[in-house]
Amino acid sequence: MIHAIAQAAAVLATALFIFSLHWMNDPKTARRGVVAGVTGMVIAVGATWIQPEIVHHGWIGLAIVAGFIVGVPLSLVPLTAVPQRTALSHAFGGLAAGLVGTAEYVVGLTENPAQLTTFRTSAIVAEVILGFLTFTGSLMAAGKLQEVKWIPQRPVTYPGQNVVNIGVLALAAALGVLVVLHPTAAWSGQAFYAIVGLAVLFGVLLIIPIGGADMPTVISILNSYAGLSAVAMGFVLDNKLLVTAGALDGSSGLILSIIMCRAMNRSFTNVLFGAFGTVQKTAAIAEQKAWKQETVEGAAQLLEQANLVVVIPGYGMAVAQAQHKVRELYDQLTKRGITVKFAIHPVAGRMPGHMNVLLAEANIPYTALVEMEEINPDMPQCDVALVIGANDVVNPAARYAKGSPIYGMPIIDADKAKTVLAIKRSKNPGFAGIDNELYVQDNTWMLFGDAKAVIGDLVKQLAGGSGLH
Ligand code: TAP
Repeated sequence: MIHAIAQAAAVLATALFIFSLHWMNDPKTARRGVVAGVTGMVIAVGATWIQPEIVHHGWIGLAIVAGFIVGVPLSLVPLTAVPQRTALSHAFGGLAAGLVGTAEYVVGLTENPAQLTTFRTSAIVAEVILGFLTFTGSLMAAGKLQEVKWIPQRPVTYPGQNVVNIGVLALAAALGVLVVLHPTAAWSGQAFYAIVGLAVLFGVLLIIPIGGADMPTVISILNSYAGLSAVAMGFVLDNKLLVTAGALDGSSGLILSIIMCRAMNRSFTNVLFGAFGTVQKTAAIAEQKAWKQETVEGAAQLLEQANLVVVIPGYGMAVAQAQHKVRELYDQLTKRGITVKFAIHPVAGRMPGHMNVLLAEANIPYTALVEMEEINPDMPQCDVALVIGANDVVNPAARYAKGSPIYGMPIIDADKAKTVLAIKRSKNPGFAGIDNELYVQDNTWMLFGDAKAVIGDLVKQLAGGSGLH
C-alpha cells in the first residue's frame, strides 16, 4: 500500500516539475511555476520518506533542519547576487550526489560487495565524477561572480591547458573503468578516492580559464552536470523520481546554456575553451573624445519632445534599484502621448531575465518590453535612447573590434537612435572591462549619477520641477 502511494506521489511530483518548467516560460505564470516546483519537491521528499526501508528518521529530520538553516538566508540575497546563489545551490547538489555515491561505494565495498554490480558501479562512478566536479566548479564560479579576492576574475590560461584538463578528466574516467571492472579488488578503494580527487581538481581547472562574462553560461552548464549526477544517483538508489527530476534539471540547464550562447553569438566550445574575458583595452576612447554632459532640465526637455523613447536598462538599473522610478518616468512620458518601449537584451544584468523581473516588479506592462531582435530595426526611428546603467549590451565594439572580449555578441543598436541619453555614475567600464564609444558619440549626452537619483530627478522635473539636487 505504502509503495503504491509512493508511486502515485512520484508521478504527481514529476507532473508538477514538468508544469513548473512550462509555467516558468512566461512572466505571467512564473510564480505559479515556482509554487508547482516547491510543491512537487515537498511531495517528492514525502514520497521517499514514507518508504518502509527508510529508518534513520532522526538524521533525516536533522538534515532538513540544516538545509533550512542554510537555505533560508540564501533565499534572501539581493537579486543582483542570484547568479552566485544559484551556483552555490548547484555546488551543494553536486556535493550531495558525490557524497551519496561515495557512501554507496564504501558501504558496498565493506558490507555488501554483491551490490557492486557493473551497472551500479558505473552509475556510482558517473555520479561521483559529475557530482564532485560540479561541486568545485560551481564554488569557483560563485567565487568569481562574487569577486572573491583570492579567486582571479580574469581567465587564467597557460600553454597546453586544454590537454591538461582533458588529461585529468580522461584519467578519472580510465580509473572509473578499472573500478567498474574490478569493484572489490584490493586497490579499488584507493582508485575510487583518486577518482574523487581528480573530479575535485577538474572542477577547479574547468573554471579558471573562463572569464567572468561567461560565468552565467558556465553556471547553467554546471546546472546540467548537477542534473546528470542526480540521474546517476537515481540509478544508484533505484529512485525513479530522482532520475526524472535530474533529467529535467539536466536538460533545462543545457537548453538555457544553448540559448545564452546564441544570445552572445558564441559556440559551446568557445565558452568552455575560449578564455573569454581577457582584458584587451580597446583604444582609450576616453582620452580621444570628450564626454558631453546634459543637465536634468535639458534631458527632460529632450524626452518631452520625443515621439518614441526606447529605454535600455542594464546592470546599473539593478544596482540602483531604479525600477520603481523608471515606472514613474514611464507614466510621465506615456501620459504625454509619447511611445515608450523597453529594449531587453538577453544578457543584460547578471542573470537571464534579470531586466524582465525588475520591470515586472515595478508593474511595467509586459507589452512595453521588446526583445533585442525586434527593437533593433526601430532604433533609427527612435528619438531618444535612454540607456540606464547598460554598458556592454550597447557597446558598438561588439560589431567590429575583433580583439574585444565581446566581439560577436549581438547588441541593442542604441547608437543608431537620433539622440542617446546615458545614465551611469562614472567613466568606468562595464562587466567586460572595456571602453564604450557610445558614450562619446556626437549624439550622446551623459547624465552622471546613481540611476535611481537621476531618474527621480527627471520625474520631478517632468512632474513640475521642484526639489532637484
Ligand atoms: P554592464 O556592462 O555590467 O554595465 C553596467 C553599467 O552600469 C556600468 O557601466 C556602471 O557604470 C553602471 N552602473 C552601475 N551601478 C550603477 C548605478 N547605481 N547607477 C547608474 N549606473 C550604474 O551591464 P550590461 O550592459 O547590463 O551588460 C551585462 C554584462 O554582464 C554583459 O557583459 C554580460 O555578458 C555580463 N553578464 C550577464 C549575465 C546575464 S545572464 N545577464 C550574467 C553575468 C554577466 P558606473 O560604474 O560608471 O556607474
